[in-house]
Amino acid sequence: MLKPTNYVGLVASLLFLALSGLLVSAADSDPLQDFCVALDADHINPDVFVNGFLCKNPMEVLAKDFKSEFLRMPGNTDNKLGSAVTLASASTFGALNTQGLSVARIDYAPKGGLNAPHVHPRAAEVLFLAQGTLLVGFVDTNNTLFAQTLNAGDLFVFPRGLVHFQINLGDKPAMAIGALNSENPGRSTVAQALFAADTPLPSEVLETAFGIEKEEVDRIIQGVQKTL
Ligand SMILES: *[C@@H]1O[C@H](CO)[C@@H](O)[C@H](O)[C@H]1NC(C)=O
Repeated sequence: MLKPTNYVGLVASLLFLALSGLLVSAADSDPLQDFCVALDADHINPDVFVNGFLCKNPMEVLAKDFKSEFLRMPGNTDNKLGSAVTLASASTFGALNTQGLSVARIDYAPKGGLNAPHVHPRAAEVLFLAQGTLLVGFVDTNNTLFAQTLNAGDLFVFPRGLVHFQINLGDKPAMAIGALNSENPGRSTVAQALFAADTPLPSEVLETAFGIEKEEVDRIIQGVQKTL
């Protein structure tokens, strides 16, 4: 039997756990109906903004609304980075609306195809390598790198919000599928956020942050522009 004083501790602990759950649970909100297939763009009132997308009338939802061919075709990797990310999220596959899920197909050119360092502010990601080999990794908030080489069939987890990348160092094309626990995971690509914002960051900010001269900042800006 617990003594009354222990009950107080137990109740306090349970309360703390419940509250910390409330405070840290920050995944997409739960659906309040079986499905909420997003309305087509041409049925959306451009003056109404909600957290997500409005639902199509459920009486008009069809089986085909739950199917997408969006990831069927390989992305075009004929670009400076040698990679292509195609994301099926609530905005490109309406059935994902309110489901807290999205899925990306990533194609990588041989010999260096790179999905550049980036973060998903709203999702963790589990990557399934379908074809080829990849070097993948993320950096935690203590600046520790966690990197591994993947072969076809392998999985790797990128924890939510951490900077991560994948590069194809093999001499064959690679293809991976990334599953993300948000219907709108968001993506901030580090090099672009810092060196290719629509209004450039003040050069002094980048000079001091990177310990470099203005000329080097300009050179990096030009380099990043070429990757866009
Ligand atoms: C954080 O990084 C430092 C320096 O690399 C290391 O000594 C330390 O063990 C790391 N701490 C954790 C919790 O990983």
